[in-house]
Amino acid sequence: MSAPVRKAVIPAAGFGTRFLPVTKSVAKEMLPIVDKPAIQYVVEEAVAAGIEDILIISARGKDSIADHFDRHIELEVFLEGKGKLAEAREVRALGELADVTVIRQGEALGLGHAVGMARNHVGHEPFVVMLGDDLMHERAGVLRGMIEAYEARDASVVAFMEVARSEISAYGCASATPIDGESRLVRLEGLVEKPPADRAPSNLAVMGRYLFTPEIFDEIAKTQPGAGGEIQLTDAITALIGYQAVYGYTFSDGRYDAGKKLDFVRATIELALERDDLGPGLRDYLRDLVGRDFETGAI
Ligand code: G1P
Repeated sequence: MSAPVRKAVIPAAGFGTRFLPVTKSVAKEMLPIVDKPAIQYVVEEAVAAGIEDILIISARGKDSIADHFDRHIELEVFLEGKGKLAEAREVRALGELADVTVIRQGEALGLGHAVGMARNHVGHEPFVVMLGDDLMHERAGVLRGMIEAYEARDASVVAFMEVARSEISAYGCASATPIDGESRLVRLEGLVEKPPADRAPSNLAVMGRYLFTPEIFDEIAKTQPGAGGEIQLTDAITALIGYQAVYGYTFSDGRYDAGKKLDFVRATIELALERDDLGPGLRDYLRDLVGRDFETGAI
C-alpha cells in the first residue's frame, strides 16, 4: 500500500515581479482575494484534502506570511472585549487552521532549490507542492484527484491543463502518452521549462500542484541551473522520469492564475460572487455596469 500523503510544501519566496509595484513592499502571497490573502486559499485547499502539516518556504521581507498563520492573542482579546465574538473566533481559527512551519530561502536560486529546502522537514515520505500563483477552485477537486491517482499507482503525479500554444512559453510543458481506460491520467515522458511555442512538445502546461515520492529530493540535489539560470523543478522531474513512472493529472476548469493581474481581478470577482454576504450586491452592481457604454470612456 502507498504511504499516506501528510505534508504540503508551499514555495513563497519569489519577488513577485509580475505584480509590481505592490510587491515591492507586500508579499505577493499576501495580496487579498476578496478578504483573504491568496496563500490562505492554498492552505485551506491542503487542509480540505486532509493535509495539515504545511511547510512554507518564505524569504526576507515576507514575515507577514508567518504572522498570518500564527495566533494573535492580543487581537483575539481585543475583539472579545468589544463583543465581536465571531471575528475573534475567525482570528483564532486561522491560527489553528494547520500545523504551519515557515523557513526561508536565503537566495533566489529557483523553484527546484526552494522545494529542495523541504527535505529535512518532509523526510522519506510522499508530499505535495502547491504554488500560490495557481488558485484551484474547490469544485475542480485537483488535489484530491491527484492523491487518488497516487494511491492507485504509487507514483508521483503532476497537474496539467491545456493552454493555447501562444501561452505555453510561460509554463513547464510535458510530452506525455495517454493511458488506456484513463480519462484524466497520462504517463509523462519528459518536461521542459518554458519552451518557445514552436519547440513545445505539446500544449499541456504544469499547473502548480505536484505530488512527489521522496526520490525527487535526490534529483533536485543533482539538478544544475537551467532555464533562466535557476534550479528548475521541471528538470528534476524529468530526471525522476528516467527511472520511475510519473503521471500527469489533467483537468480543465477551476484554476486562477493569481500571478497575472487580469486573472487576479477575475478571481476576486468570481469568488466574491459566490459569497452570501457579497454576491447579491456585486451581482446588482455588475448588471448595472455591463449596461453602460464603455466606448465613450465614461463609466
Ligand atoms: C512555475 C514552474 C512552471 C509552472 C508554473 C505554474 O513557473 O516553474 O513549470 O508551469 O510555475 O504556474 P513560474 O510561474 O514560477 O515562472
